[in-house]
Amino acid sequence: MIEKRIDELIEILNKANYEYHVLDSPTITDQEYDSYLRELITLEEEHPDLKRPNSPTVRVGGEVIKEFNKVTHEIPMLSLSNVFNEDEIRLFDERVKKEVPHPKYVCELKIDGLSVSLIYENGKLVRAATRGDGVTGEDITHNVKTIKSVPLKIKEDIDIEVRGEIYMSKYSFNKINEERLSKGQEPLANPRNAAAGSVRQLDSKIAAKRNLDCFIYHLPDASRYGIKTHMEALNYMKSLGFVVSDNNRRVENIDELLEFIDYWTTNRDSLPYEIDGIVIKVDDLADQRKLGYTVRTPRWATAYKFPASLVFTHLKDIIFTVGRTGQVTPNALLDPVIVMGSKVSRATLHNEENILKKDIRIGDVVSIIKAGDVIPEVTSVNKERRTGKEVVFKMIENCPICHTKLVKDDASYYCVNPLCDRKKIEGLIHFVSRHAMNIEGFGQRIIEDFYNMGYIKDVVDFYHLDKYKKELMELEGFGSKSINNLLTSIENSKNNSLERLLFGLGIRHVGSKMAKTLAKTYKNLDNLMNASFDELVKINDVGDVIARSVVDYFSDQDNLEMIDKLKSLNINMSYLDNSKNSEILRGKTFVVTGTLNGYTRDEIKEEIESRGGIVTNSVSSKTDVLVVGENPGSKYDKAKALNITIWDIDKLKESLGD
Ligand code: IVH
Repeated sequence: MIEKRIDELIEILNKANYEYHVLDSPTITDQEYDSYLRELITLEEEHPDLKRPNSPTVRVGGEVIKEFNKVTHEIPMLSLSNVFNEDEIRLFDERVKKEVPHPKYVCELKIDGLSVSLIYENGKLVRAATRGDGVTGEDITHNVKTIKSVPLKIKEDIDIEVRGEIYMSKYSFNKINEERLSKGQEPLANPRNAAAGSVRQLDSKIAAKRNLDCFIYHLPDASRYGIKTHMEALNYMKSLGFVVSDNNRRVENIDELLEFIDYWTTNRDSLPYEIDGIVIKVDDLADQRKLGYTVRTPRWATAYKFPASLVFTHLKDIIFTVGRTGQVTPNALLDPVIVMGSKVSRATLHNEENILKKDIRIGDVVSIIKAGDVIPEVTSVNKERRTGKEVVFKMIENCPICHTKLVKDDASYYCVNPLCDRKKIEGLIHFVSRHAMNIEGFGQRIIEDFYNMGYIKDVVDFYHLDKYKKELMELEGFGSKSINNLLTSIENSKNNSLERLLFGLGIRHVGSKMAKTLAKTYKNLDNLMNASFDELVKINDVGDVIARSVVDYFSDQDNLEMIDKLKSLNINMSYLDNSKNSEILRGKTFVVTGTLNGYTRDEIKEEIESRGGIVTNSVSSKTDVLVVGENPGSKYDKAKALNITIWDIDKLKESLGD
């Protein structure tokens, strides 16, 4: 009896939720809704064993987790390439047309939030995860369940993964900030940060109060549902009960596409949420497959980013920062202004030449530009607003930290003192950073503090930090858990592939991409250290400057001693081939037929499986790709009849990364 009533209430409330949050047309009043909800809460409190996972009471939050579990995305969550103007849009279109002569596109608003993967099993929401690095994200199910536009149960009892964007409406954002200001709290910088901060709460009650929303825009495994175009996928997801934007539009040609962009460039302010551009996707899924992927982004889609907005403010002072290479950069201290939703109080002035060319003076009214995630920049001076009191800029002659005389190289000035504290601290910050050794838990401030306290003076000291465990426990803000996490993260970094260490060492002109090239070419650090200048310049992309810099770095006695110490700490110095996790093959089912020059069947199987693909023996509708060699058998005909993607050996080799 009670059980039946609970199920009835769940059905009424879920239907009401759907009508209100998805269809935007409620059929019961708020009072009725509240009274049903209160009845359900009471029944569930009295009979906790009857609480259902799809009960709308989870929307009010309450589940508290201890930490965020990591989850692996079976199909990686990719990002999008960017285009910034009409020429670049046309270039994208031309590239598409090389593979697909007559593409049709779907244009969508680029919602400024954070992407989410939602997994349903048997029609019920079982997992929600952030994108993370694309392969590994974090489980945020407890918070996503509080978002009323995310269905807890969909209209068919199927297994499905959909992806979309969690965002905060302008209205909720303003309301929260008014509340924070009235309590004397710092306002949240912009709706995107507010949304991201909300889903990263351990206590789901907080997320529930933030009034988040969600648009769904991607069905990763669409062909599984017999779907042929992206527009069909959007309609299908809508029919399942997801909120899919009504503003998505299929366009016939590039002119219609540009019209869509023009319209939203002018009208974006009228939307109740923030968008930062327009996403352009090839509609036909077979065309999408033909175009394929780069490592990080699909070739069948791109994001047009709206131009950055200009904002004017006062330049109060010019201060200097020293980077890890010793480069001294002038920075503008500004009267704080909001640019594209973020508060900006500092902007780069690049170098002396730039300041003199633009005649930027202290006290000037200047314009600031901020595009996407890049550092804000001072672009020009409003000379009409000068009062005569402005102070002409003069470059400093000595390092602001160690006072060593600066040396000019090209347009920049450098502190050449290898013992300069700031350079050393910046070098340490770089060593732990995400693309270098990726040691989690070290903010800039912590490194600065540990350096000043003498715990970490060079990169070797990271690996001896456990010596100070007792002292660290006494520091404010550190508990045994955070220290243990930090030490584990340091220990784990010993197993990184060589390119991370190479980039982390901060060899001049060796960025993360070059580090990868060198690691891949030389396989281990000893080989690279023995490489001569002449050998190095023979490598693609390595010019004189890089080769010289690498040779110099490994001729320096101090560097060699440091590397010896790192070796004796058992830090991995070899290249670990993680292209074996190729994103193209992961999760796909392959069948191989015919003789394949240069490979045995077993070798092929091993290569595909080591990259996350599955190899089976017979072709069926579940087969994703048939790899065809010479003299293929009946499998070939069957695959053709089933419209299955067919690869020859060259296409396979390319996908294997060979
Ligand atoms: S499609 C492979 N569609 O923009 C498909 N992304 O800059 C990848 N975003 O990571 C995503 N609105 O977080 C897509 N309508 C939309 C979007 C959208 C916002 C976000 C998403 C993505 C980022 C890329």
